[in-house]
Amino acid sequence: MTLIQGVPLTFHTYEYARLDAFPEFIDQTNSLIEEAFSYQKNFKFNVDFAPLTNTKNARNRHLLIDKSKHKVIAHVGARHKNFVWQGEVIPVTLLGGIAVDSEYRGQGLFQILFEKVLAQLQSQCAFFLLWSDKHELYNKWDFYLAGKQWCYRSLKPSTQIQSTLYKDISKDQKEKMAVHYRQFVNQNYFSPLRDDTDWEEFNEITSSDLLLTPEGYAFKNKGMDLQGILHDFAHSNGVTGLLHELGNEGVLWSAKNEIVEDDILQDLQLVGLWKPNTHSMALKKLSHLLGFELHFRDNMFVVDKDDQTLKMNAEDLLNEIFNYGNFGLRKDNVPVYIGGLDSI
Ligand SMILES: CC(C)(COP(=O)(O)OP(=O)(O)OC[C@H]1O[C@@H](n2cnc3c(N)ncnc32)[C@H](O)[C@@H]1OP(=O)(O)O)[C@@H](O)C(=O)NCCC(=O)NCCS
Repeated sequence: MTLIQGVPLTFHTYEYARLDAFPEFIDQTNSLIEEAFSYQKNFKFNVDFAPLTNTKNARNRHLLIDKSKHKVIAHVGARHKNFVWQGEVIPVTLLGGIAVDSEYRGQGLFQILFEKVLAQLQSQCAFFLLWSDKHELYNKWDFYLAGKQWCYRSLKPSTQIQSTLYKDISKDQKEKMAVHYRQFVNQNYFSPLRDDTDWEEFNEITSSDLLLTPEGYAFKNKGMDLQGILHDFAHSNGVTGLLHELGNEGVLWSAKNEIVEDDILQDLQLVGLWKPNTHSMALKKLSHLLGFELHFRDNMFVVDKDDQTLKMNAEDLLNEIFNYGNFGLRKDNVPVYIGGLDSI
């Protein structure tokens, strides 16, 4: 019998499972998510989020099933990514496709499933990361908004570069993009590493247009949230170089605040909701990002600095690393880059 927080789940006839054990539920699960997020007909969750929905990732898709009706009633998807920052690999678990069937909401099912997933996965990552506008909901589990994302738009007309799909370009072009990504993204930003399999999975995201420029690339559009957004790019001359080659093709999301000319508009938003973990591997990785040795004592993150003991909660710590922290432990914040093809 499955026990969640001491409650036998069979009392409720709801069972916890992972999608790899029930491949017959794949379509039903994707439909549940599309309904929960009011997907328009021309969009498909399994296309927009192919790296999450890929059958190889089915074991990371967590479900609650109503056994009496043979029905999926809740889903939390996870994707494990190794990020890199200044030579250190930092595991991050991305969470997405979080949904409960509308007929089953308000009974605490999301809480049951979400807490089970967090407990199961927390030892594997330094952070959890998710994207949602329901900040208060996730604050309850110590997820806080952090990471700066700069938005740029050129006022110059579009140079009308012909878009293509990643799956349709040559092997040489794909290799060049992977080199650009490593060189201009991984070497400058706290960002996900991408191996050959990761790039191969992007073949399936046919809802994102690829713009190849002489010195770089950008992906535009993906799903309902990223229409008109250049959300995943690499360029030898950064934002200015790319916008010079593209003109006004949309809003470019970047991890870096660049000095730009007057004909480029600039705005700032935050990346996503992060939860830092507290086990020893997480503390080692968080220490690397913070630049100070971090401990976890009496439910607080702690830095012993000079003769002082600085105590931080999860939100304070995220601010120290990614935003403007009250303790000013970092001279500058860690710039985070998560391209739209990796986000879930
Ligand atoms: C958000 C969603 C997953 C919640 O599922 P649920 O099973 O109804 O949630 P629960 O009953 O487990 O509620 C858990 C807690 O979250 C709170 N909560 C639930 N929905 C909320 C919402 N939309 N906004 C803020 N808080 C919410 C509940 O009040 C409860 O808090 P409490 O314990 O302090 O009372 C569900 O409404 C849904 O699928 N919505 C559509 C898709 C979506 O928005 N997904 C999440 C964003 S990524």
